[in-house]
Amino acid sequence: MDLHDLNLHRGQGAPIYLQLYQRYREAIEGGKLQPGDRVPSVRSLASELSLACGTVEMAYQMLVSEGYFIARGAAGTVVSPRLVKLNESPSAKASCPDADASRLANSVGEALPFQLGLPALDAFPRKTWARMAGRTLRTLETIAMTYPNPAGYEPLRRAIATYLGISRGITCTHEQVFVTAGYRGALELVCRALLQPGDVGWYEDPGYMLARQFLEHAGVRLMPVPVDEEGLKVSEGLRQARHARFAVVTPTHQSPMGMALSLPRRLELLDWAVRSNGWIIEDDYDSEFRYMGRPLPALKSLDRDGRVLYTGTFSKVLFPGLRIAYLVVPASQVGRFRDAVEIFPGPGSIFPQATIADFMEQGHFSRHLHKMRSLYAERRDHLVDALTQISGDRLQVQPQAGGIHVLAHLTTRQNDLLIAGAAASRGLAVQPLSHWRMRAAPQGGLLMGFANFATPQEAAAAVKELNAVLHEH
Ligand SMILES: Cc1ncc(COP(=O)(O)O)c(C=O)c1O
Repeated sequence: MDLHDLNLHRGQGAPIYLQLYQRYREAIEGGKLQPGDRVPSVRSLASELSLACGTVEMAYQMLVSEGYFIARGAAGTVVSPRLVKLNESPSAKASCPDADASRLANSVGEALPFQLGLPALDAFPRKTWARMAGRTLRTLETIAMTYPNPAGYEPLRRAIATYLGISRGITCTHEQVFVTAGYRGALELVCRALLQPGDVGWYEDPGYMLARQFLEHAGVRLMPVPVDEEGLKVSEGLRQARHARFAVVTPTHQSPMGMALSLPRRLELLDWAVRSNGWIIEDDYDSEFRYMGRPLPALKSLDRDGRVLYTGTFSKVLFPGLRIAYLVVPASQVGRFRDAVEIFPGPGSIFPQATIADFMEQGHFSRHLHKMRSLYAERRDHLVDALTQISGDRLQVQPQAGGIHVLAHLTTRQNDLLIAGAAASRGLAVQPLSHWRMRAAPQGGLLMGFANFATPQEAAAAVKELNAVLHEH
C-alpha cells in the first residue's frame, strides 16, 4: 500500500491516530493490504508522515487489539494471516472490534481468554440439541418447505410470548413477536418501520458499540446520554434533546457498566416517551443471568401506553452462531411491522427456529438456564477472585449483579486502549472501555468475559498473563 493512500487530514475531523487506524482497516477490508503483508515499523511510519511515534503506536495497538495486525517483536508487524476469510466474504466487511474478536476465535476454533459476548460453549447441551434438530428435519411437513412467514416461525413466536410472560413480566401475543436475524436485525426492523434517517435518539454513554455502529450507519443521529449508578440519566437526555424520536436502553443490566435502571428513572423515561411520542428500544440482552436477588422485570412490563419496543436474543442463552433474536412491538404497531417484514429478508431458515421452539416447549430451555445461572456464578467468582488476588493493586472490579462479563477499572492512569492492544498480542481478548464511550472520560477500564473460564486455574493463568501486561506498561 502506498503511504499516500493514508490521506490524513491534519487539524480537522477525527484525531490522527483514529484516522490512521481507520485507513488501515479500510485498506485491509478493501483488499489493498493482504493477510501476511508487512506494515512499516512505528518509527519509520512516524518519520515518513512526520508524526509522533506515540500517535502511530496508538493506532497500531488498536489494530493489534482488534485482530487486524499481529505484532511479532523484532520480526515486525504484519496484517494478520488469520484474516484470509475477511477478503473472501463480503458480508464480513461490516467490521467492528466485537465481530473481529469472534472472527479471530472462530478461525482458531475456540474462545479466546476473556472473550466478551460468548456463553459457556463447553456447557451447551449438544446432544439434546442435536436430537431436537434431527427431529425437526425428520418431521418436516410439506407446508414447511414453502416460503416461511417473514415475521418468524409461528410456534417459536408463541413459545417466546409464553416465556416472556412468565420470566420477564411482559404480556403480549405471538402476533406482537417478530423473530429477527440477531439484535441488529431487530434494530433494522425498527428503523424501517418507525424511524427516518436524521431522527435523533438518546444513546447510553458508554453503550453497546455494535448497535451504535449499526444505527449510525442507518443514518439516525445518536445523542450520547451519560449513565450513573442508577443507569441512564434521563434528566440529561431531556436537557440535551427533549424532542428526540427514540431512546436505546439496557435497563436490566446496563451494557457495559452493569447497573440496573432505577424505578424512578424507568418511570421518568416512560413519561418522556408518552409526552413526546418517542420510542424506547429496550435491549434485554442478558437479563436471564442474575446472581444477586431476583431477576428484575423488564421495562416493557411497565409500558401501559405502548411506547416500548422490546428486544431479546438467543445469543447468550443458547449460542450466538444461531443469529436469532426477537422484537416485541406494541399491539398498535403490529400492522406497520408486518408491512415492513414483507419487504425484508426476515430471520432466514425455519430449521433453527423450529429447533429452538421444541427446545423451549419441552422444558430444555428453562433447565439449561437454571444450570447456567449457577455455573456462571461460579465462573464469575473464578475471575473476580483471580483479579482481586493477582491484580488488585491495578484493577478494581466493579460490582455487577448479573451478566456474563465483568468490568475492572484501571486504578492507575494507564491507557486502556494500549493495555488492551498489548494484551491482544498475547492472545487475550480484553476490551478497552474507552471503545464503548462516545465522549472521552479520564478513567479507563477493561471488559472481560468469564463464561469460558472452566476452572479457577484457567482464570488465574489468564489474569497472570494480563498482569504481566499491566506491569510492562
Ligand atoms: C448489549 C448487547 N445487546 C445485544 C446483544 C445481542 O446481539 P446479537 O443478538 O446480535 O448477538 C449483545 C451481544 O453481545 C449485547 O452485548
